[in-house]
Amino acid sequence: MCGIVGYIGKNQARPILLEGLRRLEYRGYDSAGVAVLDGDTINNFKVKGRVAELEKILANQDLEGSIGIAHTRWATHGEPSQKNAHPHSDGEGNVFVVHNGIIENYKTLKTNLEKEGHKFSSDTDTEVIAHLVSKFLKSGDDLEQAVRKSLRLIKGAYALLVMAKSEPETLIAARFSSPLRIGVGADQLIIASDPSAILNYTSQLVTLGDGEIAVIKGTDYAISSLVGGGTIDKEIEEIEWDLTEAEKGGYDHFMLKEIMEQPETVRNTLRGRLISEEGKAVLGGLSRVEDKLRQIERITVVACGTASYAALIGEYMLEEYAGIPTEVCVSSEFRYRKAVIDPKKEAVLVLSQSGETADTLAVIKEVKEKGVLTIGIANVTGSSIAKETDAGIYNHAGPEIGVASTKVFVSQLTVLSLLTLFLGRQRQMSVTMGKRITEELLKIPEYISTILKTNQSILEIAEKYKDYNDFFFLGRKYNFPIALEGALKLKEISYIHAEGGSSGELKHGPIAMIDENFPTVFVCPKDSVYEKNISNIEEVKARKGKIIAVATEGDEEIKKIADEVFYIPKTLEMLTPILAVVPLQLLAYHVATLKDCDVDKPRNLAKSVTVE
Ligand code: AGP
Repeated sequence: MCGIVGYIGKNQARPILLEGLRRLEYRGYDSAGVAVLDGDTINNFKVKGRVAELEKILANQDLEGSIGIAHTRWATHGEPSQKNAHPHSDGEGNVFVVHNGIIENYKTLKTNLEKEGHKFSSDTDTEVIAHLVSKFLKSGDDLEQAVRKSLRLIKGAYALLVMAKSEPETLIAARFSSPLRIGVGADQLIIASDPSAILNYTSQLVTLGDGEIAVIKGTDYAISSLVGGGTIDKEIEEIEWDLTEAEKGGYDHFMLKEIMEQPETVRNTLRGRLISEEGKAVLGGLSRVEDKLRQIERITVVACGTASYAALIGEYMLEEYAGIPTEVCVSSEFRYRKAVIDPKKEAVLVLSQSGETADTLAVIKEVKEKGVLTIGIANVTGSSIAKETDAGIYNHAGPEIGVASTKVFVSQLTVLSLLTLFLGRQRQMSVTMGKRITEELLKIPEYISTILKTNQSILEIAEKYKDYNDFFFLGRKYNFPIALEGALKLKEISYIHAEGGSSGELKHGPIAMIDENFPTVFVCPKDSVYEKNISNIEEVKARKGKIIAVATEGDEEIKKIADEVFYIPKTLEMLTPILAVVPLQLLAYHVATLKDCDVDKPRNLAKSVTVE
């Protein structure tokens, strides 16, 4: 996610803004910028690259002034570049904005503003805010009213800071869905998207709520609701975190923070992409190949590791709900087989969190040479895979710091659900089924929140099983890949041997391993293959194997045969993997932390495998 820092007070803004940006670097970003008011001029500097690059440029600049805003950008709309870096202005040096979030309707707003003569200099959604505020200021509004009127026109998520030459003592902060806090110091206020940029100066923080606006004048602030209403008295919180804890949102590890933020991740992935009343998905990144996709008769999905397990789930979705024959192949194998692909009728879909995985990138280049349509699902905007593919869909999951992928995997499954809806509704999927999928997708964030509340009981089960040396993870159909992912999560952060597989394959050899020292995790929701899974559980139990089951809320029968049960809410079979993976992520996390493993940076692993 982007990082925001604002300053107003008795000191020079520049050093505090830059220190704040350095504190936000851990979040991941691709560009940085700062704007400071000096007399009757707002000086604005921004770069593509690191905060250190920005500091080099500023080394020769007299960036004086005691009010300013600064930003680290995690690109969503518009490639990483100097022109797309924040702060963005109205083009006349009057208004400057930094923003974290997504403006869903920015294209319409931008077109209308251009018709009124506004000149844009970036590809971003954010720049629209600066032009809207400038327009309302020119119509006679003060800065607060200009921001209020602008935000009434905007659909999406935001945390933003606005400053204007015409009101040199004022900063406006506003929030809807993305976090923003005000640090209350002695004769100074530091506003930031994350406490880590504030805690060096004060531990007294005020958190802006959704739909709230703060008018900051000098070192006073007044918070009120964006939909009118009087001042809101907010409690000042004392944040005891040290800086390291702040970066992790108070959690012990980035991995746990990222597991816990999955409800918001799914909301961000879905944002602006569902038309509920029509049961359709809107995927802007596919618009230029929409007609080509209508003709596609077969899809090959290529990815590595966790992304390849998401791909396997996509295979089931696309075949069952879009009626498109689909095959999955890991990138490192696809590269060296003589795949037979007809460029006229087939497409290759790739998934990659980093967008830089060497094997996956190599596949794209190879199939593109054969004229095959390539579609990418990536989390990093402007990454090599995002650039190489003909079209694509960004996860909008924000930076994933933990090496073991969690929230992006859940986002990949969400995107694959959207893609299935998109392609299915191009084909035979009915509006009724489309609405059913849409309705359930919108409930997924709450379902995940329900599962996260069982974290303590999952920790207790982790304590019971942490000393076993071998595990099976088994599942069928949509949850066979979740068994693979659950096994990978456990082994890659706890270094315990864990083998994922299909429940149906148990009797073809693996069952020979079962005894009281070889527990099995069964992913066994109430779905179309539930009874088959129950038979497999019975087979393991008959050989004294311990059973940990992921089951559907309300399933009392499974308690009679499983030693432990993680419950997940009931949902559409195609969406159960998004829920079933969550307890397995937490199980792996707790086992690994109980064994004092470095869960964020496991031995031998890299976050992005940029070599073959
Ligand atoms: C995820 O937990 C693993 N660390 C790894 O399998 C990862 O999914 C794989 O390397 C693919 O990475 P990508 O999604 O960035 O291409």
